[in-house]
Amino acid sequence: MPEPGSRPTALEVVEGVDLTGRTCVVTGATSGLGRESARALAATGALVVMTGRTQDALDQAEAWVSSEVDGALTATVTLDLASLRSVRDAAYEIPAIAPEIHVLMNNAGVMFTPFSRTADGFEVQLGTNHLGHFELTRLLTPQLVAAGGARVVILSSGGHVMGDLDYDDPNWERREYDKFVAYGASKTANLLHMVELDSRLQDQGVRAFSVNPGAVATSLARHMSKEDFSSLRKYAAASTAAKGEETDGILDFTMPDQGAATQVWAAVGPELEGRGSAYLEECQVSDDVQPYAVDPDRAARLWELSDRLCGVVRG
Ligand SMILES: NC(=O)c1ccc[n+]([C@@H]2O[C@H](COP(=O)([O-])OP(=O)(O)OC[C@H]3O[C@@H](n4cnc5c(N)ncnc54)[C@H](OP(=O)(O)O)[C@@H]3O)[C@@H](O)[C@H]2O)c1
Repeated sequence: MPEPGSRPTALEVVEGVDLTGRTCVVTGATSGLGRESARALAATGALVVMTGRTQDALDQAEAWVSSEVDGALTATVTLDLASLRSVRDAAYEIPAIAPEIHVLMNNAGVMFTPFSRTADGFEVQLGTNHLGHFELTRLLTPQLVAAGGARVVILSSGGHVMGDLDYDDPNWERREYDKFVAYGASKTANLLHMVELDSRLQDQGVRAFSVNPGAVATSLARHMSKEDFSSLRKYAAASTAAKGEETDGILDFTMPDQGAATQVWAAVGPELEGRGSAYLEECQVSDDVQPYAVDPDRAARLWELSDRLCGVVRG
């Protein structure tokens, strides 16, 4: 296990790990933490199925992984999580490449987007970050079970503290939109998804983990204004102060190679064998999580709600 506080890179996490013959699927593999994770997972010898919104972006990311990792085994599948039709198409295509999936990394995400809706009418942060991944995971469950031991790694965030999920108005139909609360709600949903998924599938050898990568310099901040950065600093300072820790109010950003370490550890770390339903930060299991985001009853309720919302579109 990486030393606490040592901040390893994702490539350091996979040193000595051999996943030859295994398959990993990574969403949002075209940039930031997803692209970095794809590189590290490819370095283990696994086949890495990289998904992204456009074939152009996928071609570029795949070329980068191949240039970084000798003999990298990769495949690409287009996937727009903001469209359940696209999710269904990708979930049809992926099993032809990967009849067994040993790691499903639900990494793609958007943050603090102006109000908009997905193709299916969901608020875009909940729709992209949670509901699209919920449906993808549901559709790929036979391949996860077929692996005979699989991990689902779900990217959440320390930002889950910014907002709880409103079960009566998940898609912001009756409230004034708040992009910070909506991001928090989507990242809370990611954690709750992990709790219920692990509970439902552990008997079939599928374990789920949720990850806070910390503050990482990626293009996730593309929708943020200068004022948004100030608000974010205030949220972070308040959350640090609430833990009784000192803060200088400066956000401590890492680069993607270090930022992706925890999610890659979640995917391959032998220390996590036999475990599941855990929130991970800095390559360790963490209890620094809001109780509302890991409550089993709320997790079961979110599962039903998500299944109903996606089910309406499924028809
Ligand atoms: N960076 C941080 O500080 C931080 C902190 C906490 C949690 N996280 C989480 O880490 C994850 C990865 O974020 P990142 O920092 O690597 O951001 P990023 O560089 O912006 O990467 C996000 C990825 O998600 C993809 N994506 C966005 N919308 C999509 C959609 N509708 N369908 C499919 N793919 C979509 C993006 O594709 P396009 O390039 O096509 O947009 C991109 O590949 C997110 O879930 C985020 O919430 C990040």
